[in-house]
Amino acid sequence: MVDNHHLLQISPVIPVVTIDDPADAVPVAQALLGGGVRIIELTLRTDRALESLARISQEVPEILTGAGTVLTPAQADAAVEAGAQFLVSPGTTTALLQHLLTLPVPVLPGVATVSEALSVLEHGITNMKFFPAAQAGGPAYLKAISAPVPQIRFCPTGGITTDTASDYLALPNVSCIGGSWLTPQSAIRDQNWQHITDLARHTTTLMAVAS
Ligand code: 3PG
Repeated sequence: MVDNHHLLQISPVIPVVTIDDPADAVPVAQALLGGGVRIIELTLRTDRALESLARISQEVPEILTGAGTVLTPAQADAAVEAGAQFLVSPGTTTALLQHLLTLPVPVLPGVATVSEALSVLEHGITNMKFFPAAQAGGPAYLKAISAPVPQIRFCPTGGITTDTASDYLALPNVSCIGGSWLTPQSAIRDQNWQHITDLARHTTTLMAVAS
């Protein structure tokens, strides 16, 4: 099993993907893989997200499949049941984190402030999602907090683009970034899988240069 630390080492970018129709799930995952991305955070924001998650985890084992937008213990349980190999939350409460830590998969708890990061750190977790990254202060904020809490590694997500990606990846406390730009809703709607592969390839190439 991948642990919390290694979760952030798999890819410089974690695509945050929202899929309405489970029939699109496998082609999206394969398109990302075709572009060199081996991890996917599937948000639980659609009615049939768990079905999409199950399909990807069963039919595309080459990609590490996680559930994002985990807000409650019940959602976390359902995601693991459906095959989620990791869990991501946009924010963290003590009750949610305590439950996540009982599950047999790595978790990436979301934080946006130093106090929230310290609460997560108290549970022995040093890898966190920083959300919403751009709106909460962006690279300058992350740089400032690397001084008091240098032991924390972040995956900033929210409002990041190909233009700002390298600003985040250059920071010593950023291991990878996340974002939805690799899987635009228009490409999924048009079943333009090649476009998703091209975006994934472009991003991984860009990040190989940046890192
Ligand atoms: C998330 O859940 O991490 C965000 O919705 C992704 O943010 P973005 O759409 O701005 O990339």
